[in-house]
Amino acid sequence: MNTQVLLKVDKLSRRFGGLIAVNELSFYVNKNEILGLIGPNGAGKSTTFNVVSGFFKPSSGTLNFNGQDITGFKSDRVSRLGLVRTFQHDSMLRDMTVYDNIVIGTFSSIKHKAERDARVRETAELMGLIEVLDNVAGSLPHGLQRLVSIAIAFAARPKLLCLDEPLTGLNQTEVVSVLEIFHRMRQEYGISILLVEHNMKAVMEICDRIVVLDHGEFLATGTPEQVQSNPNVISAYLGKRHEKQ
Ligand SMILES: Nc1ncnc2c1ncn2[C@@H]1O[C@H](COP(=O)(O)OP(=O)(O)O)[C@@H](O)[C@H]1O
Ligand SMILES: [Mg+2]
Repeated sequence: MNTQVLLKVDKLSRRFGGLIAVNELSFYVNKNEILGLIGPNGAGKSTTFNVVSGFFKPSSGTLNFNGQDITGFKSDRVSRLGLVRTFQHDSMLRDMTVYDNIVIGTFSSIKHKAERDARVRETAELMGLIEVLDNVAGSLPHGLQRLVSIAIAFAARPKLLCLDEPLTGLNQTEVVSVLEIFHRMRQEYGISILLVEHNMKAVMEICDRIVVLDHGEFLATGTPEQVQSNPNVISAYLGKRHEKQ
């Protein structure tokens, strides 16, 4: 296998009873790449995340991560190997402080308190959460809560960070600063990102490459420019969105 490939998804399918949510989907994420996964609601993006991250078992197909076959591995095993995901809805412990939430993200892999403290502070610094480390997570404004969810995932220093709609509900200034954080994660930590996101401007701006899904199936892939001008993508997805606006 090409050593540049970090995640390889091969003919992946997931059924729920009679419904085929993901159908024979193949795509890959390279090391140090930001890959966008887009498609209309119900296209199978979150299901793909759930299967890739070990929350759901695939019905068929294979997953290879960092040169290892991880098909059927459970989520804790997958995350310890360095593939960590966030959820479409914030998944933090709302009654706990931001500090303690970020500690959970390290999977207790850091035994020494001083080292753990350093990891939390470095994470909070990158995410712009230093000022609110002692605040209760659930009391923060929405934008900061989204950052806490991402910080928990980033605290593990994953090789691949899978983000499910991280920009939902953020204002334009917040979007710009979160995109800057993604750039820094890649540049300073060598992290690859798999991004599911409805904010098309942000996706086109930050992704190296995009994979488009429709009705659980692969529709197209290419650079943001290629995808935006692909007639199949425009009629299945981008065109519909324009009509709505
Ligand atoms: N746990 C589940 N049980 C049954 N059907 C599901 C489940 N999760 C997703 N689906 C169905 O699979 C399809 C794809 O959903 P999803 O992956 O959430 O799409 P997206 O994230 O692209 O909006 C939808 O038809 C959805 O209703
Ligand atoms: Mg979804």
